[in-house]
Amino acid sequence: MIKNFKEKLANLGFRLIFFSEIDSTNSEALRLLKKGAKDGLVIYADFQTKGRGRKGRVWLASPQSSLLLSLILEPKIPQNYWGLIPIITGLAGATAIEKTIGFKPGLIWPNDIWGKYGKIGGVLVEGYFSEQRKALVSGIGINITQSKDDFPEEIQNRASSIFIETGKVIERERLLFEFLSQFKSLRDILKSQNYSKIVELYSN
Ligand code: BTN
Repeated sequence: MIKNFKEKLANLGFRLIFFSEIDSTNSEALRLLKKGAKDGLVIYADFQTKGRGRKGRVWLASPQSSLLLSLILEPKIPQNYWGLIPIITGLAGATAIEKTIGFKPGLIWPNDIWGKYGKIGGVLVEGYFSEQRKALVSGIGINITQSKDDFPEEIQNRASSIFIETGKVIERERLLFEFLSQFKSLRDILKSQNYSKIVELYSN
């Protein structure tokens, strides 16, 4: 990944580790947390062999078809507001899609990103609680290039991608950068404890 890109991410307060293949970016983030990884680390992958969804489901994506990443977060807000982290992750994903390609997807409670033809993206947030530290891993997957045939038959009627919705393919790194920019802005709003602003943005 180009140096310039890493510098741009550093300006947003993120550091990035890239894997061409990993079991799951969330699992790797949890392992790294155990080894002492800090807030702002982004685990980014081309392909996951054991991508995980909510409710114990699998998250499938062929190599380089999707944005797959997990953020390590140590939120500086009272813990009873940590429930807003999945919300801002989904919102950052939906807004990043809109800013990158001009297509505004819907957000369906709690944080699924949907288009006209099905689900485009999802968020899986997991907690890491040890005696010393409390942290979260917020993982997001956004389908970019898939056609309906690329999804397993049983989910073809409800799975979608940015390509299916718009007929256009966007550059993954542009979406990555836009996602992280949006996430940073939303996180700043959270830090300022303007929680009603988050609800307002989510509801529009
Ligand atoms: C869902 O809608 O069920 C949540 C899907 C979350 C998938 C992402 S892909 C990147 C990160 N790593 C994982 O194993 N899962 C999340």
